[in-house]
Amino acid sequence: MIRVQIPATTANMGPGFDTLGMALKLYNIVEMEEAKRGLHINVEGDGADKIPRDASNIVYISAAKVFKTVGFEPKGLRIRMINNIPLARGLGSSAAAIIGGLLAANILSGGRLGEKELLNLATEIEGHPDNVAPALVGGIVVTVQADNEIKYYKIEPPPKLKCVVAIPNFTLPTKLAREVLPQSVSLTDAVYNIGRTALLVTALIKQDFNMLSAAMDDKIHQPYRANLVPGMKKVFAAAKLAGARGIALSGAGPALIAYCDDNTGLIATVMKETFLQSGIYARVIELEPNPVGAVALEIMK
Ligand code: HSE
Repeated sequence: MIRVQIPATTANMGPGFDTLGMALKLYNIVEMEEAKRGLHINVEGDGADKIPRDASNIVYISAAKVFKTVGFEPKGLRIRMINNIPLARGLGSSAAAIIGGLLAANILSGGRLGEKELLNLATEIEGHPDNVAPALVGGIVVTVQADNEIKYYKIEPPPKLKCVVAIPNFTLPTKLAREVLPQSVSLTDAVYNIGRTALLVTALIKQDFNMLSAAMDDKIHQPYRANLVPGMKKVFAAAKLAGARGIALSGAGPALIAYCDDNTGLIATVMKETFLQSGIYARVIELEPNPVGAVALEIMK
């Protein structure tokens, strides 16, 4: 039996829409083994009542893609998902399922695909690489699509970086959060984000927390998504006043993620209370950046 542990991820990191992401120390588990016949899917934990148990399950779709690519035909398949990453909140639950399915299926079929091929397959399934890349390789990952593949660099997260994540008690499907975005942006807004994305990557490499507040601002997705997350702008302002070095919508939301080096307790309280003022109950947790990506084990029975 193959067991894969996959980290949660936060995409965009403010200005780096569809290009930047970071792994976090919160995990889902995917277990997979060949069965005598049929598809058997068991789901435990977050979203267990919503996740399909048939061929439309994303872990199965991902596994089937690997099997097709390498020409492996299992007689049947048994999948178990143990979910700790909140579903559809902006913390990479679908990326974790995709990476879990791909990695487990790759090992089950002889380990013929390497990291790059797995990342390319993951991006084909997810549509953008910014969650799947850090879920696979860990750390902070800069990604672009070029020459029909994903080009990427992994950066080690600054050791002192801590994250406070406020997770509202409603889901926001990524599809909906993408539908509110414009098809094109002005040159001014493009330049605004290009500069900040470059500044953010440099600040993270230099471990310069003073630059995060300016570097994490964004004009191409968060302003359009603000209406989908009541209180978002107020939580941003309050968290910064409480000492957060930078703050962003985590992925497509609705979770918000504050980047901190200190004062995490106060920042957590302030984020929770400010959300409450807008009528939103949010669970607030502290999560550390995760330098390590998905880990797979083969367990002999
Ligand atoms: N970059 C993606 C978005 C991440 O913001 O829509 C969510 O999957």
